[in-house]
Amino acid sequence: MADVTVHKFDAVVIGSGLAGLRAALELSRHYKTAVVTKVFPTRSHSGAAQGGIAASLGNLDDDHWEYHMFDTVKGSDYLGDQDAIEILTQEAPDVVYDLEHLGVPFSRLPDGRIAQRMFGGHTLNYGEKAAYRACYSADYTGHVLLHTLYEQSVKNNVRFFSEYQALSLLVDDDVCNGCVAWDIRGGGLHVFHSRALVMGTGGYGRSFKITSNAHANTGDGLGLIMRQGLPLQDMEFVQFHPTGLWKQGILVSEGARGEGAYITNNSGERFMKNYTPKLMELAPRDMVARSIQTEIDEGRGINGLDYVNLELMHIDKAIIQERLPQIHDLALNFSGVDCFKEPIPIQPTAHYSMGGIPVDNDCGVLKNGDYDKIAGLFAAGECSCVSVHGANRLGTNSLLEAVLFGRRAGRGAIKDMPNLSWKDLPKTPKDVAQAECDWILNNKGDEKVANIRNDLQTSMTRRCGVFRNGKDLTDQLAYVKELQQRFHKVKVDDKGMIFNNDLMEAIELGHLLEFAEVIVAGALGRQESRGAHARKDFPDRNDTDWLKHTLAWRKAGKVEFGWRKVVITRFEPKERKY
Ligand code: FUM
Repeated sequence: MADVTVHKFDAVVIGSGLAGLRAALELSRHYKTAVVTKVFPTRSHSGAAQGGIAASLGNLDDDHWEYHMFDTVKGSDYLGDQDAIEILTQEAPDVVYDLEHLGVPFSRLPDGRIAQRMFGGHTLNYGEKAAYRACYSADYTGHVLLHTLYEQSVKNNVRFFSEYQALSLLVDDDVCNGCVAWDIRGGGLHVFHSRALVMGTGGYGRSFKITSNAHANTGDGLGLIMRQGLPLQDMEFVQFHPTGLWKQGILVSEGARGEGAYITNNSGERFMKNYTPKLMELAPRDMVARSIQTEIDEGRGINGLDYVNLELMHIDKAIIQERLPQIHDLALNFSGVDCFKEPIPIQPTAHYSMGGIPVDNDCGVLKNGDYDKIAGLFAAGECSCVSVHGANRLGTNSLLEAVLFGRRAGRGAIKDMPNLSWKDLPKTPKDVAQAECDWILNNKGDEKVANIRNDLQTSMTRRCGVFRNGKDLTDQLAYVKELQQRFHKVKVDDKGMIFNNDLMEAIELGHLLEFAEVIVAGALGRQESRGAHARKDFPDRNDTDWLKHTLAWRKAGKVEFGWRKVVITRFEPKERKY
C-alpha cells in the first residue's frame, strides 16, 4: 500500500455536527479518536438549529419526563419506538445539565436557572396545555451547542480531519474497520483504519428545492450505507417545517411561535383555529405544515401566492431582541422584512429526515429487522433512525436526540471496544473510492451536475412534498430513474483532485439520486397517511396494515422492502387530536 496514507485510530467519527462531536468527546476520554468531516466542524448544519433542546426540567411549570414521552409518542403518530423514546425523555435532563457543565451559555431565568420556552406538540399532563420544555440560547441554540462541543473535543485531543469527504466504508464480513476519505484541500485519498466507526453524517434536505438545510446536507452517509448492501429505515417520512422564509426555505424558528407569534392567511385570519383549536400554532409540525399548505392550495395564501404570514408585530420588541435576534436579522436580510413592523412571509420547507440508518438503542448499526448488527459500526443523530421520531418529530427533540444518542454511540462503542480490533485492511482499500473519483473525472458525457440536481430538487418538492398522491409518486419514481440515467452522462470540467467542487457536487448528487429513489418508492408503497407522510389518496392512518417500520435496500439497482416491528410499551395507538 505504498501510495496510500493510512491513519490508525481506535475510533473514527464521520461528521462533526452535534451527534458526531458528542460521540467523539465521549470516546476521546478513553481512546485515540479522530473526526473526519467534509466541512470545518463549527460550520456543520447543527449550528443552524435555532429554537431549543427539549428536557422536562420543569423550570417554569410542573413538567415530567413521562409527559415528554407521551408527547413524543403521540407526535410520532405512534410509529416511534417507545423503548427508545423512554430513554430519550428520561435521560434528557441529565444531558442538558451535562451540556451546561460543559459550558453551554443557555439563556437564563432571573433566578439563574436555564430558561425554557414553549414548542409545538410539547404539553403538560398528557395534552392538557402547552409546556415550557425547550431549553434555549436565544435563537442560536444549535450554534452554541456546536461551539461548546467543538471546544471540548479540541481540549480532549480529538484529532480533526476537516474538509475530508468520506467516500467508502471498509466493511467486510459484517465487521467495520474504518473508511476511505478524500482530502479535499490536499487532493489525496486517505485510509482511516479503526476499531470503531461512528457515523454522524446528518440529513438530506438538499434533495428538495425548498429546504432549511445547508448545502452540505446531501445525505452522503446514507449513500455509503446503501452501497454496503445495508438497509435504510422509514425514509418516506420527511419533515416539512411549517415556517421557512418564502422562496428561500431558510428556517424561521418555531421558537417565534413559542414566544407568541401568529400565523395568518390573506384575510388576516389565525386559521390554525380551524385545524388544531386547542394548541393553535403550537400543534405538532406535520399538522401546522399541512394547515399552511391547505390554505395556500385553496387560494388563501397572501395575494393568492404560495405563502402565508408569520406575525410578530404584537410581541414586545425587547423580547424579540433578546430571544429571537436571529429571526429578526434573517427576515431583514433575506426577505427585506422588518418583523417589528410587518409580517414575515413563510411557507413549509424540507427540514428533517425522520428515517435513516437503522440502529439499536446503543446506536449499533443494524443489518436487518432482527437486530443483527455490523460489528464496530455505529450511527447517531439525523442520519440514524433509532427510532425516536417515528413518522413526525417534535421540534427541539432533534438537538436532544443528536446529543443524547451521540453520547450513547460513544458509550456503545466504548462498551464494545474490548471485542473490537484492527482487522487486516483489504490489499487495496482505496479502490472503491478511487474508482468513483476516476469515473466522474473521466466520464465523457454532456450533462451538468447542477442541471440534474435542480431537476431532482424541483420535482421532489412538487411531487413528494407536504401532500402526496399515488399518481405524482409514480411519476416521480420514473423521473428519478430518468435522472439516474442522465447522471451516467455527467461531465465535470475541473479534472483535478484539489478543491474540486465539481467533483464534490457530482459525488453528492450520486448519493441524492440513490436515496431519493428510496424516499419516493417508500412513499408510494405506504398506502396510508401517518405523521409527515400525507397521502391525499389514502387520507387515514391504517394501523392494521402499516403500523410497522419500512426497511429498504437498494439491490442491483432496485429498491427492495422489508419491515421492522414498532416497539410499543406504554401508549397504545390512539387518534391524534390537538
Ligand atoms: O424551529 C426550530 O427552531 C427548529 C427546531 C428543531 O427542528 O428542532
